[in-house]
Amino acid sequence: MRKKIVAANWKMNMTQAEAARFVESLLLELGDIADVEVVIVPPFTAIAKVTEALGKSQNIKIGAQNMHWERNGAFTGEISAALLRDLFVRYVVLGHSERRTLFGETDKIVNRKVRAAHEATLRPIVCVGETLVQRDKGSVEKILSIQLHGSLATLGAKELQETVIAYEPVWAIGTGRNATPEQAQEAHAFIRHTLREMSDETTAERVRLQYGGSVNPENARELMSQPDIDGALVGGASLDPRSFAQIVLSAREEDKTAAPSATV
Ligand code: 13P
Repeated sequence: MRKKIVAANWKMNMTQAEAARFVESLLLELGDIADVEVVIVPPFTAIAKVTEALGKSQNIKIGAQNMHWERNGAFTGEISAALLRDLFVRYVVLGHSERRTLFGETDKIVNRKVRAAHEATLRPIVCVGETLVQRDKGSVEKILSIQLHGSLATLGAKELQETVIAYEPVWAIGTGRNATPEQAQEAHAFIRHTLREMSDETTAERVRLQYGGSVNPENARELMSQPDIDGALVGGASLDPRSFAQIVLSAREEDKTAAPSATV
């Protein structure tokens, strides 16, 4: 049984003060929730503040939004896996479509980062997803296959099992237009099928797959109740602690059949 994982990608938002207030409110909403894995992914500048605000809370983890593949050295402006570990970071988002399109990250670069993350025992959340043009051309599976084979190249079964894959269709990011649960499930099933080909049945069954792209408290439950959707990577709606908490609570297994209002 895969434990659901819901992550808040704050992107380039949140001052330290805002981050501290967010965590305070989130803890009031969720307590130290144990049945869903929650990851907060602040900008680098707010990581330490989030850790401090989480205090003794054990089950809410910290992620970073990016990192460099080298261990250390003359790479002005970059952050290494070891520097993130020093801040108690456990997860790192790699290959987000904003990094791929705005900062020229290729699958090869993403793969170097993924391998460096594993070497440092950081767990990567690797993002894949097609553009609208690619979807309209009927190339979703081709694009996902290329991105998965490229970004996850040379990983062993254990590393794959400790990798989270986020399916984020580019056309659904920040647009208010989420993939339908059927579209998302279809893509997730294909990703799991590809993992099976790249590794083995047990590994493919263990890898957690998140959906990302305009997830909100209204659509989260139905998306996450699909058989191959094991959580969400949330952008815009993760900036509000109440919305994010509702999304987290809707990932609970026992809530699957409940009415949406019962999650609040
Ligand atoms: P939105 O939830 O704002 O669409 O962003 C999704 C995303 O990019 C999460 O990484």
